[in-house]
Amino acid sequence: MTQAPQLRTLGATLGTEVLGIDLSKPLEEDTFAWIQRAFAEHPVLVFRGQDLGAPALAAFGRRFGKPRPHALIKYRHAECPEVSWLTNVEETGQIDWYGVKRATDWHTDSTFEDTLPLLAVLHAKEVPSEKGGTIFADMHAAWEALPEARKELLSGLTGLHRRSCGPAGERLYADGKGVTEKEYHEVPWPAVTQHPVNGRPILFVNPMHTHGFAGMTREQAWPLIEELAGHATQERFVYYHRWRVGDVLMWDERATMHRGAGDYRPDERRVMLRTIVYPA
Ligand SMILES: [Fe+2]
Repeated sequence: MTQAPQLRTLGATLGTEVLGIDLSKPLEEDTFAWIQRAFAEHPVLVFRGQDLGAPALAAFGRRFGKPRPHALIKYRHAECPEVSWLTNVEETGQIDWYGVKRATDWHTDSTFEDTLPLLAVLHAKEVPSEKGGTIFADMHAAWEALPEARKELLSGLTGLHRRSCGPAGERLYADGKGVTEKEYHEVPWPAVTQHPVNGRPILFVNPMHTHGFAGMTREQAWPLIEELAGHATQERFVYYHRWRVGDVLMWDERATMHRGAGDYRPDERRVMLRTIVYPA
């Protein structure tokens, strides 16, 4: 590392820009260690002005763990299945309406799987002229701000997760959840977890995949899930990322929720590459 990279704050709660790192070159060990330290403190890191192909994006992901092919087969990159497309355009050039709608409500990725991802990386290739951002919520800050009575209740609860079966999942995908390779069963996760690196408590309930709590009826659970989602996504806990072509954004999959803002003109192209990284 010839010159130390720098950090610049983007949002009030989340969102930090990294200056001085070119991700197209293999990362030196000390640069990688610097990113890891920064990432433990800043769960959304943005590297501007990058130009990576799918193999380079997968290689970046592999430094942190094991990138996995995405559940939705249709969007996997043909040459590099650990990378998938986030796109609103069909191969024919028509609007991909599933792609437009996809992931536009709050969620944490893949909490319906037995192993949780560590992080995910998005790389913007084409962006709409206006809006089309991605919004992140700080689930540690959200936890800290909960009333004591809610913290006590949640400390004893286990969330039940199943792919797109929570209130937001039902609202968004009532007409179809996309084709996946396997059937997903139910996976339990404690409603509050500890961050694996910094040890901070995290509210680990998301309205897309959390569809209940062990020992609680649906009538009791759904309003609680909605209440927690409403709490965690207040303005004071969220960061709206305005994409520029070339942005590489990595986010902590334990410590945040996210959603596509879904606020752009769908006839304008929005195309990104993405990889999700699991523990090695
Ligand atoms: Fe997502």
